[in-house]
Amino acid sequence: MLVSLFICPLCQSPMQPAPDTWRCDGSLHPKQTSHPFDVARQGYVNLLPVQQKKSKSPGDSQASIEARKRFLNAGHYEKLQTLIVQQMQQLLAQDKPVAKKNNQSTNWLDIGCGEGYYTQAMAQMGSDIIDTLIAADISKPALVELAKVSKTAGKLWYQQSKEASTKTTIIYPLVTSAAHLPLRARSVKGISSIFSPILPQAFAEVLTDNGYLIIAKPDAGHLASMREALFDDVREHDSDKFLQELSPKFTLIETHRVSAAMSLSASELADLMTMTPYAYRAKSEKRQVLLEAVEKEAFNTEARFIVYVLQKASDS
Ligand SMILES: C[S@@+](CC[C@H](N)C(=O)[O-])C[C@H]1O[C@@H](n2cnc3c(N)ncnc32)[C@H](O)[C@@H]1O
Ligand SMILES: [Zn+2]
Repeated sequence: MLVSLFICPLCQSPMQPAPDTWRCDGSLHPKQTSHPFDVARQGYVNLLPVQQKKSKSPGDSQASIEARKRFLNAGHYEKLQTLIVQQMQQLLAQDKPVAKKNNQSTNWLDIGCGEGYYTQAMAQMGSDIIDTLIAADISKPALVELAKVSKTAGKLWYQQSKEASTKTTIIYPLVTSAAHLPLRARSVKGISSIFSPILPQAFAEVLTDNGYLIIAKPDAGHLASMREALFDDVREHDSDKFLQELSPKFTLIETHRVSAAMSLSASELADLMTMTPYAYRAKSEKRQVLLEAVEKEAFNTEARFIVYVLQKASDS
């Protein structure tokens, strides 16, 4: 029998994807009850049960998803996108021949994927590198957008053709919480968390032995001129506290830095503020003054990122 990649978020029983409704087999439920999860018309599956929701609409809002989509599609963070994809490619290319020989598919989880700017670039790698990409986020509007783009590109999980010796990486867009991943233990070769939550225990659980974890965070000095304009007291990003929490389950193998100078119009700056936590924390007068100044002259700032490459310790 085919071993399922997915498990039920309610009873952890195995669950097989199906075109209209995903259903667990209930084998681990005390009453053998099977739970259904409908596939949305855009092609994503909502695997976030109400009891795991901490608010009515968890995660990023429609407005912040739209702002991020406009901003990212303009290419401002392209260097980071390229760096992440290169790192994944290097890591996975080493392991792929062994996986192929053992007939194992290579699965990758992009957690907190948002509307999928980085996920779509990962999918371009093709099945020589990644067979299956699980794009997961707690925000429904994010997954609606990601599923639409994946469908147009013909990469959705139900669009793969059985006959074709397809080179396509297939995408499963899932609404889920990072704390309750609907994935079988040791089923994914890697996880990316790009400005997204980091849950050491949940990640270690679903990763294979020696599986990879790629984390992207803002580095010191990220958007410094914007933060100076918005706040009286600018605190630096405290970027590596989480590393302690990840050890001893994970070993840090590499760190990379990338930066990009940006010259932003008023609407781009407004989008950047909407897609980052600054939008909520800055005083509205300061934000207004900044945006008015930018109407006259482009705003110059620098994006600075740090990318951590970690590997799961085999005994965790
Ligand atoms: C700063 S955004 C980054 C999105 C995307 N990775 C990018 O860089 O464009 C953080 C994302 O994490 C998601 N998120 C927040 N808490 C989450 C959780 N507990 N489980 C899954 N996703 C979560 C949000 O909905 C949001 O889309
Ligand atoms: Zn179930």
